[in-house]
Amino acid sequence: MNRYSKTLVFICLLLAGLMSWQQRAVASNTGISAEDIASIDDARDLYQSNCAACHGFDGVPIMAGVPNFGKNERMEKTDQELLASIKNGRTPESGGVAMPPWNAVLSEEEMAAVLTYVRVINGDPVFQDNCLSCHESSVPPVAASIPKTTEELSSHQGPFNLCKGTDTDNSMEREDIIKVIQFLAGVSKN
Ligand code: HEC
Ligand code: HEC
Repeated sequence: MNRYSKTLVFICLLLAGLMSWQQRAVASNTGISAEDIASIDDARDLYQSNCAACHGFDGVPIMAGVPNFGKNERMEKTDQELLASIKNGRTPESGGVAMPPWNAVLSEEEMAAVLTYVRVINGDPVFQDNCLSCHESSVPPVAASIPKTTEELSSHQGPFNLCKGTDTDNSMEREDIIKVIQFLAGVSKN
């Protein structure tokens, strides 16, 4: 490589670095960053390869004795309690298979990530079906006027006004809009 092309390569690398730095800076100012969505992608992979065989790809169990994450079962427990269950495994109270311990299979970080995913799994298919086509890997913050807690959402009569100028709201069931808003609120907490 001559000196000219080395300089060119250096400048390209510098530009690429600056651009990704800039993207990150922009992302961190928004509610749900590209990084949030990327970490959900990783956690989804962990879940699909280790947990879905019993818990179902969308959290709706395919085996007896398994809680339904699609209906938020067990989600009232704290992270600490649920992490302990994931680490050490569980025996169902009546019938069904037991859950094996995961501490020899997954790292601490992976167990925490997959638990985060389990907490928001409810809204993920809805999000993928309805939002990714326009928003790809990042979504702007959920507008202040959109209610976010479960209580507020269930009594909110609408409109939700998720994306001005699109018919996202109109084309979705109310229940799915609520799910996806909770999904986004859950992702952005991390
Ligand atoms: C072999 C089947 C099986 C697999 C694979 C499995 N689980 Fe489970 N899981 C169960 C069963 C059965 C229960 C319910 C046991 C009980 O009644 O507490 C359970 C319960 C849970 C609970 C609730 C625990 C509690 O304290 O109430 C969590 C959270 C959980 N699983 C997460 C996971 C995660 C994360 C993975 C993948 C890393 C996974 N499970 C893989 C069978 C499985
Ligand atoms: C047809 C393309 C399209 C689809 C599909 C779409 N959006 Fe949007 N969304 C947009 C555009 C364009 C904007 C920016 C419009 C604006 O400034 O309000 C936006 C803005 C937003 C905002 C910021 C809202 C605000 O008022 O500040 C949120 C939150 C959002 N979208 C979430 C979602 C969710 C959740 C879904 C899936 C249910 C979704 N979007 C699907 C195009 C889309």
